[in-house]
Amino acid sequence: MADQSIEDRYFRLLKSYVMGPKEEHLAAAAELGRELVTADVPEEDVAEIHEKALRLLAQESPDMTLEDVAHLISGPLMEMFMAYGLAFRERLEERRRTEEELRKHRDHLEGLVKERTAELVVAKDRAEESDRLKSAFLAVMSHELRTPLNSIIGFTGIVLQGLAGPLSEEQAKQLGMVQGSARHLLELINDVLDISKIEAGEVEIDPKAFDVREAIEKAAQKVGLSAEKKGLALTVDVAPEVGRITSDRRRFEQIVVNLVNNAVKFTEKGEVRVECCLSEDRLVTCVKDTGIGIKPEDLGKLFEAFRQLGDGLSRPQEGTGLGLSICKKLVALLGGGIRVESKPGEGSVFTFTLPKLWSA
Ligand SMILES: Nc1ncnc2c1ncn2[C@@H]1O[C@H](COP(=O)(O)OP(=O)(O)OP(=O)(O)O)[C@@H](O)[C@H]1O
Ligand SMILES: [Mg+2]
Repeated sequence: MADQSIEDRYFRLLKSYVMGPKEEHLAAAAELGRELVTADVPEEDVAEIHEKALRLLAQESPDMTLEDVAHLISGPLMEMFMAYGLAFRERLEERRRTEEELRKHRDHLEGLVKERTAELVVAKDRAEESDRLKSAFLAVMSHELRTPLNSIIGFTGIVLQGLAGPLSEEQAKQLGMVQGSARHLLELINDVLDISKIEAGEVEIDPKAFDVREAIEKAAQKVGLSAEKKGLALTVDVAPEVGRITSDRRRFEQIVVNLVNNAVKFTEKGEVRVECCLSEDRLVTCVKDTGIGIKPEDLGKLFEAFRQLGDGLSRPQEGTGLGLSICKKLVALLGGGIRVESKPGEGSVFTFTLPKLWSA
C-alpha cells in the first residue's frame, strides 16, 4: 500500500486543481507521477489512491457529482499518468542496463577465475615436481653418506677392540665418543633416507604373515637397555587372540621401536607398556608411558617432520624430530591410522591401528 503522505499529496493536488487555476498544477502533477514510480507504488495502488481522492473530492463539493469531478481533473491526470509511464520506462531501461553491466562483470570474473586457476595448476605442478626432486636428491645423498659412515663405525670398532694395537684409556674414551657420534649420525641419515623415500613414493611394502607377539617383543628388546638404564619397567602385553597378521613386519617393528623409544626418552619414572589386541578386523597397538606428557596445544604438531616440542633451547633430549613423522607415514602406507592422547605430567598413549590383512 502507498504511504499516507503520497495519498494526501495526491488528494491535495487534485483538490487545488479543481478549485484553482489549472496550468499551475500540471508541473506538480508530472512531479507526483514521477514520484509514484520512485516510491515503487504499483499501478493497482495508484488506481486505488485515485478512486479514494475522487470520492473525497466529490464529498467536499456537494454541488458536483463524481463524474463532474472526474471530468474536471482529466488534464492533470493525463499529465500525471504520462509522467508515471515515462518514469516507469526509464526505470525499466535502467534496470536492463544494470543487468547488462552485471552480466559483463560476471563474465569478466569467470574469465579471471579461469585464468587464475590455470596459473595455480601450473604453480602446483611446479611445486610438486621440485618436492619430488628434493626427495629424490635427499634419498641419493643419504645413501652416499651412509657408506663412509659405516666405514668410520667399522674401523673405530676395530681400533677400539685393540686389533690395531693397544690404546690408552683416554684414547679409548675419545674413540668411543667418535663411534657414538657416528652411530647417531647414521641413525639420523637413516631417518632422513626413510622420510625421503616415503615422500618420493619409493617405499615398497613387503606383506607377509608374521607373529605379532614376536615382532613386538623383538622391537621392545631393542629399547630394553635404555629403559633399564633409566630404571623404567618395560612390559609387553599382547592379547592371546592376536596371533598372526599379514603386513610388513620390518615396518611394523620400526613403528613400535620409534614409539617405545619416545616413551622411554620422555619418561623419568614409572613404566612403559606396549599393549596389543584385536578390534573387529583391526590390530590395535598402544604404547603407554608415565612420562612428561604433551600439552593439548602441541598434540596437533607432533607428527610434523622435524617437529620437537619444548622451547628449542633447553631441550634436554636428543633426536631430530623425524620419528613420529615417519611413524605416521608408515602407518598410513600399511593402511592404518595413528593417534595420541596425553596429559602433561601424567603420561601419553600412542595408539595405532592396522588392518589384519594388508592390501594395496
Ligand atoms: N611419549 C612421549 N611423551 C612426551 N612427548 C613426546 C612423546 N613422544 C613424542 N613426544 C614429543 O614429540 C616430539 C616429536 O617426536 P619424534 O619422535 O618425532 O622426534 P624425536 O623423538 O624428538 O626425534 P627422533 O625420533 O627423530 O629421534 C618429541 O621431540 C617430543 O617433544
Ligand atoms: Mg622419536
